[in-house]
Amino acid sequence: MDFFETLKARHSIRKYVEGAKVEESALTAILEACNAAPSAGNLQGYRIIVVRSDDQKSAVAEAAYGQTFITNAGVLLAFVADFSVSAERYGDRAQLYAIQDASIAATVACYAATDLGLGTCWIGAFDDDQMAKVLGVPEGSRPVAVIAVGKPDQSPSGRSRRPLDDIAREGKYDGPGFGGA
Ligand SMILES: Cc1cc2nc3c(=O)[nH]c(=O)nc-3n(C[C@H](O)[C@H](O)[C@H](O)COP(=O)(O)O)c2cc1C
Repeated sequence: MDFFETLKARHSIRKYVEGAKVEESALTAILEACNAAPSAGNLQGYRIIVVRSDDQKSAVAEAAYGQTFITNAGVLLAFVADFSVSAERYGDRAQLYAIQDASIAATVACYAATDLGLGTCWIGAFDDDQMAKVLGVPEGSRPVAVIAVGKPDQSPSGRSRRPLDDIAREGKYDGPGFGGA
């Protein structure tokens, strides 16, 4: 798929074909795409936790306030920011950088999966402590996003977006524009 076609083809998928697995080769391709993402100082201050078992998927869904649709995704990829990785070099900015590193990698996962014909949904609504427990994430690290990846069982049309001149400004910030949500 052409890059801009892939951008347009990605939509949040909240219905997956039950029992459809994500091929190992596809998963590896997605993880390799993530690994090519930029990161602050190239430190890659994040980890990706691959969740495959039904039990752990259910526990993740529960931590995500009962978003059970993700249990039908073939695999869940949890992106965890590791603050300690960049703390030594970046001090106060380490947390911000690690969260950005994790978010960029998660974004790349969404588009790589789309390019492979898979559906994704970004899950950001969850109880931090509960999610950390389910994923075994220690103090000093923080789950940032869970990306559900699976065979789509729906074809949503694109959500509307704000007009460009509402999100892009020349030279200076002049307040949030909420014209076209
Ligand atoms: C930071 C963030 C958090 C999100 N959290 C959730 C979530 O918990 N559950 C969900 O179903 N979708 C979630 N989404 C998906 C958005 O609802 C979705 O991207 C948005 O409505 C635009 O639709 P589209 O992805 O189809 O373009 C999240 C997206 C982002 C970027």
